[in-house]
Amino acid sequence: MTELQCDVVIVGAGATGLTIATDLQKAGFSTLVVEARDRVGGRLRTETVEGAVLELGGQWVSPDQRALIAMLDELGLETFERYREGDSVYVDAAGSATRFTGDLFPTSQSTQDEIERLIALLSGLTAEVDPSEPWNHPRAAELDAQSFEAWLEQNCADAEARANVALFVAEAMLTKPAHAFSVLQALLMASSAGGFEHLVDADFILDRRVVGGLQRVPLLLAERLGDRVHLSQPVRGIEYSDDGVVVTTDGLVVRARRAVVAVPPNLYGRIAFSPALPPARQQMHQHLSLGLVIKVHAVYPTPFWRAAGLSGTAFSPFQVAHEAYDNSGYGEDAGTLVAFVAGETADRMLALPADERQRVILDSLASYFGDEARSPSVYFESDWVSEEWTGGAYAASFDLGGLARWGSQLRSPVGPIRFASSDIAGEGYQHVDGAIHIGHEVAAELAATL
Ligand code: FDA
Repeated sequence: MTELQCDVVIVGAGATGLTIATDLQKAGFSTLVVEARDRVGGRLRTETVEGAVLELGGQWVSPDQRALIAMLDELGLETFERYREGDSVYVDAAGSATRFTGDLFPTSQSTQDEIERLIALLSGLTAEVDPSEPWNHPRAAELDAQSFEAWLEQNCADAEARANVALFVAEAMLTKPAHAFSVLQALLMASSAGGFEHLVDADFILDRRVVGGLQRVPLLLAERLGDRVHLSQPVRGIEYSDDGVVVTTDGLVVRARRAVVAVPPNLYGRIAFSPALPPARQQMHQHLSLGLVIKVHAVYPTPFWRAAGLSGTAFSPFQVAHEAYDNSGYGEDAGTLVAFVAGETADRMLALPADERQRVILDSLASYFGDEARSPSVYFESDWVSEEWTGGAYAASFDLGGLARWGSQLRSPVGPIRFASSDIAGEGYQHVDGAIHIGHEVAAELAATL
């Protein structure tokens, strides 16, 4: 066992943990980062697969993500706009594809009116919710006791309108079925992204990408931290008292004045805390879970859809792949489509043999973009649910009632231990922006109190 000592030990070398270590080092404190994987970045991973450079995890940057944009500037990283020229495609319940422009799906006029009415209602409610403390909304308990699906049913008789509005939060963001999370949880998602109207605007929320991939952020941060980052060291135990912490991995014992657990909350249970965490915390952690989404990458010799006047953007709450985008790399001739399969549809797909799943998912892409979509030169599925040190995607959310019941304790310290990750960030919740935002917040609090 190697014994080490520092002011603050950080568990997890994702965007959150590396931001905290960077800020604390700048403020003059000594830090060590212990990471379970043999790489940094956590849910950010840019890989070359069969010659194609793919963003396996987080990738998009939106204009309101101030913490992320400031970090990109600081690291000297360039961004480029997602390709969006031409028509988008919507596939209805009967499987029929229609081209459209703008945000409003080409449904019947009455369904469009209902979608607009629901969006206006949800925008109004979202404006009442502070993303850093949604549990303080005057009707928090009531809004957290009702599922998003039940709320949609109560407020709208049009099934197609409901399915489309559910999609913006359920499949596209929390990656759970709309009956599995509350209205309050949906409003947190929307308010943390700056408003419900942003969730329905793909050109806003999925605006830009980083040249070289978003994993360059943690890679560059880790490069600056040098040998303060220890890879392949899953933290097994944290002993804590008023005097500080002792963090144990298979090869290291790290003594520090404070610890930050910068891992998603579904993994807190993998660490043996001694003494045990307070009862309410243990309960809360059991009610936070990651969603499920398969991120599908299909690479073609050229972006053939562009020649047909299509942007590569496609939606359908009725399709296996509920959304798709042109995800071609910066300056590349090849064309890449990225598509997402979420929630219960992902359950069904994961139960199929891999070749059958690929066929069904490519059929779904063909329903948007035509037969050519069936024959990519590279096909790859990002499988985060099988990753031991993540366990799902994109991030964590509470089951019904959890946010109002325990949310106020999400970020409170336990003795010398702080918790931080995009999953428990207020502003930027679920996004890299939230990881960086909460990272700065926790580092500033530690620097002020150490
Ligand atoms: P993260 O999970 O990245 O880091 C935690 C680290 O802790 C990991 O490196 C893990 O290995 C480590 N760890 C866990 N347990 C440990 C233990 N016991 N000991 C030591 N280390 C341990 N966001 C966005 O802004 N735009 C986007 O387009 C997307 N898209 C997207 C797609 C997909 C497929 C995914 C999976 C995610 C996204 N996201 C996203 C979300 C975004 O990637 C995510 O919110 C942040 O990267 C999370 O960063 P954190 O550092 O908080 O956690």
